[in-house]
Amino acid sequence: MDRNLALEFVRVTEAAAIASSRLLGRGDPNAADQAATTAMRNGFNRISMNATVVIGEGERDEAPMLFIGEQVGTGEGPEVDLALDPLECTNSVAYGRPNAISVVAMTRRGHFLHAPDTYMEKVAVGPEAAGLIDLNKTPEENIRALAEAKGVDVDEITVAILDRERHEPLIAQVRKLGCRIHLIPDGDVSAAIATAIPSASVDILLGIGGAPEGVLAAAALRCIGGDMQGRLTFRNVKERERAIGMGMKDPDAIMDIEQLAGSEDVMLAATGITDGDLLRGVKFRKGGCVTESIMMRSRSGAIRFMRTEHNFKKLETLYFEN
Ligand code: FBP
Repeated sequence: MDRNLALEFVRVTEAAAIASSRLLGRGDPNAADQAATTAMRNGFNRISMNATVVIGEGERDEAPMLFIGEQVGTGEGPEVDLALDPLECTNSVAYGRPNAISVVAMTRRGHFLHAPDTYMEKVAVGPEAAGLIDLNKTPEENIRALAEAKGVDVDEITVAILDRERHEPLIAQVRKLGCRIHLIPDGDVSAAIATAIPSASVDILLGIGGAPEGVLAAAALRCIGGDMQGRLTFRNVKERERAIGMGMKDPDAIMDIEQLAGSEDVMLAATGITDGDLLRGVKFRKGGCVTESIMMRSRSGAIRFMRTEHNFKKLETLYFEN
């Protein structure tokens, strides 16, 4: 495909970020999510594409918009699949915490894992350690391989882990190794992508987070040349059956980056909503605001950072002109 849709999607993630950032700290996660989702959906329908949401806001009966299977775009143009999260880290916006982003990834039809809304054990790293990580290995083995590849000591490696009770044993192991730990309240998509961005201060993401978020992180790492593996973890039999129902032959298998987001042409755009590991959040100023976004594409390997000054008087035209 000649078009780099990430360059078009960024206007959509910017719109979703701005809409939800207005609700920062209001204690209303649903309103923040709704604002982002509405803005994203409106934006998509101005883009010439015949797109299907494969990772979205939820099942058709539980999400009014951007549900799994929904068709978006003008209906003309390339046939693509979308993995998206209009507001990744809903609570971070609702309670004024870091790492919230709006994100969309795209690939040719059939190349994103159709991940059920369950959990996924993850290991994610930047390009230096591509091919060296393995979920079958211990966290210590993966961290040692990464340190060697980066040419640093183990105690100079920074490990991002979601701050959850389930991670207490993992945190204890990583502390014992002497690594630096970046405990994140939410937002393992940003943290996973940050492992591949030299200016960010995260070297590896470990632990269990959302499965749909795992596909988004894998899409980004595919663009940057990083690496990731994931294994679904189920809270009950129903979740496991659901994964099988979605076409997974072996729901307990370790999936590599190819199985999570396996196409030679993946594109992704994300905009910061609150300050985070990867991007700065939306800053309001007189008559407008400033956003920071990242765009990437696996085919070219190009990673673009964009800082946009928005003028609220012209915003409608800016985003949604024909
Ligand atoms: P949401 O926007 O869906 O709330 O996701 C935020 C998040 O922190 C993800 O980044 C992460 O993958 C997941 O939640 C972890 O789930 P949990 O909060 O249940 O541990």
